Amino acid sequence: MSEIIDGNATAKAIHEELKAELAQLKFDRPPCVAFIRVGEDPASVSYVKKKGRVAGEIGIESRLHVLPESTSQDELNALIDTLNADDNVDAVLIQAPLPKQLNERDTFNRVRADKDVDGFSNANLGFLCQEDQRAFVACTPAGIMELLDRAKVETKGKRAVVIGRSLIVGKPMALLLMKKGADATVTVCHSRSENMKEICAQADILIAAVGRPNTVSADMVKDGAVVIDVGINRVPSTETKSGYRLVGDVDFKNVEPKCSKITPVPGGVGPMTVAMLMKNTLKAYKGHMKA
Ligand code: GUN
Repeated sequence: MSEIIDGNATAKAIHEELKAELAQLKFDRPPCVAFIRVGEDPASVSYVKKKGRVAGEIGIESRLHVLPESTSQDELNALIDTLNADDNVDAVLIQAPLPKQLNERDTFNRVRADKDVDGFSNANLGFLCQEDQRAFVACTPAGIMELLDRAKVETKGKRAVVIGRSLIVGKPMALLLMKKGADATVTVCHSRSENMKEICAQADILIAAVGRPNTVSADMVKDGAVVIDVGINRVPSTETKSGYRLVGDVDFKNVEPKCSKITPVPGGVGPMTVAMLMKNTLKAYKGHMKA
């Protein structure tokens, strides 16, 4: 039997901490995060709604800008520039994925570094690489580090394997795990990796960020490993009203008995991404109000 790491409870505790911290701050306006959603991708609609709801619960104002699927890069840039220049907006988040006519890299780079609470811009990734405290760190990997810390998982000297090399999770995750203080020995696997099963089976901490159900099977997991499942995959289901259910990248049923700790899907990493977004927004706010 393994310990199931409860992301919902941990995220809730962080929301309470942030709410208490915000209540102590006596600035003359509340923090404000602006969300940009382009198109109607159902997962993006649901994520942005959740982010807005949690912001409200903490006392963070949020603004939602919904642009049509056909939005051009110039139109999106113009909105980003307006929000960058608005002194009442602390944080700007553009929900990914974007429609294919839009360039995600250029879009993320256009957000002012001190409002880039997603941490996807070249400036913030550079700060992270340099271990500079000014970095806004991408919310999902930051949330995983927080979960590991609060679940008392030792990373120092441990072998961590990250499956996936995305800008949003895999790359910043690897940087955080190898950072001074975390001190893990990090391997990143991806779709072209050879001997993936053998590499994963050496991991003390295995982090799956692939976006495909059942990518991690029991034979890829060392006895006693800590397994973090980042996948949020919608699979058809006749048992739910929505017609789908959420599963991770890990074959939970068969992997869970082998590991010491594991995150569930839903209720593991997902809520932590939102909690870290709130934390980053508060950091941006404090930076702006003290400036
Ligand atoms: N899409 C999936 N995860 C994220 C995230 O953390 N931020 C944004 N902006 N889009 C995402």
